[in-house]
Amino acid sequence: MTSSEIRNSFLKYFEERGHTIISSSPVVPYDDPTLLFANAGMNQFKDVFLGNGKRSYKRVADTQKCIRVSGKHNDLEEVGRDTYHHTFFEMLGNWSFGDPSAPDGIGRAGYYKKEAITWAWELLTKVWGLPKDRLWATVYNDDQEAEQYWKTLTDIDQSHVLRFGEKDNFWEMGETGPCGPCSEIHIDRTPAGNATSEMVNAGIPEVMEIWNLVFIQYNRDETGKLTPLPSKHVDTGMGFERVCAVLQNKSSNYDTDVFSPIIKKISEFTHKSYNGGMRSAIDNSQFEFDTSMRVIADHVRTLTFAIGDGALPSNEGRGYVLRRILRRAARFGRNLGMHEPFIYQLVPALVETMSYIFPEIKSNQEHIQKVIKGEEESFNVTLENGLKIFEEIVSRAKALDSKTISGDDTFKLYDTFGFPFDLTQLMAQERQLKVDSSRFEELMEEQRDRARLTRETKVFVQDNLGIESTDSKFVGYDQFQCDSWVIEHKRHPMDGDFEYSVRDSIPSKLFVRGISEYVVFDTTPFYAQAGGQVADIGEIEILNTGNVIKVSDVFKTSKSAIVHVIPPSSEIGMGMKVRIRVDQFRRLSIMRNHSATHLLHNALRRILGTHVHQAGSLVAPDYLRFDFAHFAKLSDQELADIEALVNEKIKENIPRTPGLNNIPFEDAKKLGALMFFGDKYGERVNVIQFGDFSTEFCGGTHVNNTGEIGYFKIRSEGSVASGVRRIEAVTNDYALELLKIQDKSYFERLDYAFNQFDETLQLKSELADASGGKSSLAHNSLGGYEQRLNDLKQIRSIPNEASQELKSWFDQIKSRNQIMEELILQIAETKKSMEKELGRFRLQSLSGSMDDLTASAISIGNIKLVAAIVSAASIDELKNLGDSLRAKLGSGVGLLACVIEDKVQLVCVVTDDLVAAKKIEAGKVVGAIAKLVGGGGGGRPHMATAGGKDVEKLDEALAQTKSIVESLLRK
Ligand code: SER
Repeated sequence: MTSSEIRNSFLKYFEERGHTIISSSPVVPYDDPTLLFANAGMNQFKDVFLGNGKRSYKRVADTQKCIRVSGKHNDLEEVGRDTYHHTFFEMLGNWSFGDPSAPDGIGRAGYYKKEAITWAWELLTKVWGLPKDRLWATVYNDDQEAEQYWKTLTDIDQSHVLRFGEKDNFWEMGETGPCGPCSEIHIDRTPAGNATSEMVNAGIPEVMEIWNLVFIQYNRDETGKLTPLPSKHVDTGMGFERVCAVLQNKSSNYDTDVFSPIIKKISEFTHKSYNGGMRSAIDNSQFEFDTSMRVIADHVRTLTFAIGDGALPSNEGRGYVLRRILRRAARFGRNLGMHEPFIYQLVPALVETMSYIFPEIKSNQEHIQKVIKGEEESFNVTLENGLKIFEEIVSRAKALDSKTISGDDTFKLYDTFGFPFDLTQLMAQERQLKVDSSRFEELMEEQRDRARLTRETKVFVQDNLGIESTDSKFVGYDQFQCDSWVIEHKRHPMDGDFEYSVRDSIPSKLFVRGISEYVVFDTTPFYAQAGGQVADIGEIEILNTGNVIKVSDVFKTSKSAIVHVIPPSSEIGMGMKVRIRVDQFRRLSIMRNHSATHLLHNALRRILGTHVHQAGSLVAPDYLRFDFAHFAKLSDQELADIEALVNEKIKENIPRTPGLNNIPFEDAKKLGALMFFGDKYGERVNVIQFGDFSTEFCGGTHVNNTGEIGYFKIRSEGSVASGVRRIEAVTNDYALELLKIQDKSYFERLDYAFNQFDETLQLKSELADASGGKSSLAHNSLGGYEQRLNDLKQIRSIPNEASQELKSWFDQIKSRNQIMEELILQIAETKKSMEKELGRFRLQSLSGSMDDLTASAISIGNIKLVAAIVSAASIDELKNLGDSLRAKLGSGVGLLACVIEDKVQLVCVVTDDLVAAKKIEAGKVVGAIAKLVGGGGGGRPHMATAGGKDVEKLDEALAQTKSIVESLLRK
């Protein structure tokens, strides 16, 4: 029988006995955090066993993809060394759910030990014709019931039914989960068929377990306690590759048609033959070759199926296991003389033989091959570097006559050079050296502590300020400003530096420098740093004194209070009424970047594939950074396509779906919001959705329409860790800023940067004047920018010889250009914020002067008329002034003029009552005046703008306003 016939006959046998045949679940169990990989056929029914889930059937059978490389079931070390253990294998299984006396809707009851044992025996001996005298059955110590069934319902040799203890005959899926006593079937493959009972469960390849019938009765919890389950279940699992070896009469699983196509390919690539025998039969080097081929054949299956189901090699968890498997395979490849990537080229042989049953490996073949190839390449680089260092370490050890490689060296190899620990161990063994693994472990533990320290201290400090408020009200989704009052205010417990002794588990003490104060308001529009989006900055105006205090940072305590960080000795106290304002321009930029991040994420998934998922992100005002799982450097074409797709979505001006804040998690799931394994979601969530292009869980702040993003430009693409890429991008004003310097040389860029800086300095002093010192932005020290610009200036002129020096000069320029770009964006941010602030203050003072203008209005009947020259800095400002005049006029017409860049700008406003009575239109008034200054314009009846070039005629034209309005009114 071929392997596919064997698989089919198993499924058919159980289908004939009322079982529903289903597909294997993915080998990556996305919904079970207790498992890295599916390790048994029963995994997908765990919920049924625990009584939490239901299926429409009571009997079911399948072939399940399993990987056993970690946790309770780990066969990694045996693989290749013997002929019947695998990291990836198929498990044929049949199951029964629940009480035999309660039939399912279609008349098929569950079953238990009796049927499970009878059918297993019948399939093995009658259908497949295995010799009865070569089969052995084991039962759990006190499972007399199972023992009796074997002895009375089957014709097994009575002396072949053996009892074993917990280690062999009590099956558990992991540290926790459903479990129960089991009964195993072993086959005697000794040449003479004369195995003895001592050879069963003794780890002898000739007496091998082929099928395990588990009687699931208990659940084991985290404390180790067993609790009986509501019902009893059957869970059987047969090693497919083993049974193929038996039925095809091969001494090794690797000789069956499941593996031979892959082994054949490996032989072709390596020009080495596969002998297949075990050590005793052949010489040592052939044994090593055979072992290597088995390891590779096994590992490529694991990699293919795991990657095909969405896993990726990485530095942690499941990804790390895969990376180690690949590296192990690549290492064994080197034993066969393979120094270039080749494992990825074995995938087609596997696809050809297996995709008829597991089509996912065919549809993902290209992706699988790319990932494996990328990993092989990066491992080669790591290996080359590590090998050199390893040799240095070995010769140092030899010089000292030492037989040990120190833990410090091993750690350095691992930590700095990414050289796997097990590889160091293996290579040391080959040189008859030992590795000081306990020192290595010690260093690893210290490293873990350090990581914990930085992560936990910030939270620790924040949570130990003694802030008691809970749940501040956040109104910043649709407000940038609000009036509120101080509900909590904390100074540092001591003046000066102070010390916290951090939790015992963390060795060092934390020393906090710099003094701040902390305030909590009843309500706030300030966003606290979360989910990659940086905190808002802004200011607090104390309403009764008019004092303004700068907010430099905002964070959320674990009790959900939103805490604003302000300078020491700020004159603020409990209960004070305040007006708090976020830096609006900065926040709008953040919102654009956050929404752009979502568009980018989806563009990546569409262009590179759905394996792309977020691995980290930063949303700042001047740029956004997005890390994602992907195996290869992005090509220029891919980057261009991604940029174009995001810009297309911006141009489509897709509105953000309203009403998705604080909705039940289940509703969000129904919307198809992107959810990632390992992420935690609360009961109520926010969803950000832009049409059908992007739907994500997100608590951040976003634009209302994608059009507001303006423009999206990728700044850089690179790698952060192997398998994780990083894109940095800019939007809107910042994108334009980059376009401006795009074709400039280094020194031209530097000039541009200095220029922008000078303009910012100028703005700062204008802002200080206009705000009477009240703008917190006017207190910004710009010294940091100046310092960095001067640093960038310090570069010697280009060396004229074509030498190494020239190359290093160019490298230097390249990295400085990067820094300069960042600096230019930061200056732009400060400058833009200041411009906006300046506008606000000027408007404030100019609106004050609108009162005077209104008071001096002339009358035409009951209608007031104002015509005046004002000093607005932009057309927007002029329009704002028009609005404010219109509000103050009562009933009338206003005409304001100013000169901007040697041109006349005009705005005319008409109050609502006159518009409603159709007495006069703003457009007509402004049009007639504009004509007098050599221009034209128009607008809506209540507000219209116009421009003209003849500045010298402005006074004269304004003098005509009264008669023009009179003439228009008469009509
Ligand atoms: N769950 C048992 C095993 O994996 C039987 O399927 O061996």
